[in-house]
Amino acid sequence: MLAENESPETHEPVMKDIENDSENPARVKNIGSAKRHPDLKSYSSLNDTAIHDLPSWTPPRKLKVITIGAGFSGLIFAHKLQHQHEEFQDLVDHTIYEARENVGGTWLVNNYPGVQCDVPAHIYAFPFDPKPDWSHFYATGADIQAYIQNTVKKWNLDRDIKLNHKVTETLWQEDLGQWRVTIKNSKKSFVEFADILVSGQGVLNRWRWPNIEGLDSFKGHKCHSAAWDHTFDYANKTIAVIGNGSSGVQIIPKLAELHQTKVIAFQRTPNYVFTPLPPGHLMGRAEDTSNNPKFTDADRKRFVEEPEFHRDYRRKIVHQINGAFKMVRFIVARNLANE
Ligand SMILES: Cc1cc2nc3c(=O)[nH]c(=O)nc-3n(C[C@H](O)[C@H](O)[C@H](O)COP(=O)(O)OP(=O)(O)OC[C@H]3O[C@@H](n4cnc5c(N)ncnc54)[C@H](O)[C@@H]3O)c2cc1C
Ligand SMILES: NC(=O)c1ccc[n+]([C@@H]2O[C@H](COP(=O)([O-])OP(=O)(O)OC[C@H]3O[C@@H](n4cnc5c(N)ncnc54)[C@H](OP(=O)(O)O)[C@@H]3O)[C@@H](O)[C@H]2O)c1
Repeated sequence: MLAENESPETHEPVMKDIENDSENPARVKNIGSAKRHPDLKSYSSLNDTAIHDLPSWTPPRKLKVITIGAGFSGLIFAHKLQHQHEEFQDLVDHTIYEARENVGGTWLVNNYPGVQCDVPAHIYAFPFDPKPDWSHFYATGADIQAYIQNTVKKWNLDRDIKLNHKVTETLWQEDLGQWRVTIKNSKKSFVEFADILVSGQGVLNRWRWPNIEGLDSFKGHKCHSAAWDHTFDYANKTIAVIGNGSSGVQIIPKLAELHQTKVIAFQRTPNYVFTPLPPGHLMGRAEDTSNNPKFTDADRKRFVEEPEFHRDYRRKIVHQINGAFKMVRFIVARNLANE
């Protein structure tokens, strides 16, 4: 049986040019906003309401999302939009603005001698593509940066990234319900509007010199860990290192290893390093007491060939490390008891 507005030949809804319907100008007015949709194919003239020949949830335009930063955070989000939830291809128009010349964020910038991650390599990873063949329990900064770049290439995660584009201002526009985002590249400054603004700009990417009297007039070579000068030859020099935070403790031994250096470490506050679980223990190799044990060829082969084993191994490390946070509860309780 045919519905009233179907044509007997095609069973397609009857197309009526209601834009030119001089008999009912009110109806033409009603569809004013729907008319603007580029995908709109037809209207039904069943009643005075224009029927959109698209699924009811079809948005009239894509949601504009701007992300700031292409470090781990921005890249994981890019993967979610591009691969994890493929329906977003039709719904979201995404742009990642990255101020620097490459992806990687922390691991691109911090390339001082000794830079290394203190989270086991197998779990400091993109959840969608963990690397099975790390050489050591802890990865160097350079290894992590290479892993980031390879993963970006493999998953085409740079599709929406604009490098050398710095976001200089973001303003919420109450009247539009959108963000007004100002971006600067080497040629110009321009404005874009976004429905959703995602900050992946990190919290540790703005460095500054310590406020030390006379630092400005120091005549020797001066270098910050977050902008390491690789062109300078540090051998045969007396080197003062200010600070013994996570960067300082990694740099000092590397400088001390160089030929004929005299390294003076300035420590304002004591630094405590606590290892609740030695790496060998986390690897299931308690007899290995080295600071950063190597994986054997057999380990790597198994991680590569048995993804489930690799997943369980990663899960076990996460579990063990999370378990170590009980220590915080214990210390807090003890300190409270001693007060
Ligand atoms: C030296 C160092 C060592 C670290 N070691 C460890 C570790 O061992 N274990 C650990 O868990 N964590 C460590 N961290 C923390 C590390 O920052 C995070 O683990 C993680 O890499 C942060 O990723 P992110 O994408 O959130 O930020 P980031 O890696 O900082 O990336 C932010 C990106 O945003 C870009 N950006 C910022 N502002 C703008 C703007 N206005 N416009 C455009 N782009 C912008 C930056 O250029 C950068 O590329 C370390 C941090 C530092 C600095
Ligand atoms: N996990 C890792 O492997 C790793 C490696 C590197 C960096 N990071 C992270 O990156 C961030 C930055 O680390 P960071 O070590 O570069 O910086 P940081 O943690 O801010 O440490 C700065 C160091 O400089 C000292 N300092 C600052 N001003 C000084 C002054 N005027 N005189 C003397 N000493 C002064 C500080 O002493 P005071 O303590 O007295 O202020 C501190 O020891 C941290 O969040 C850190 O966790 C992590």
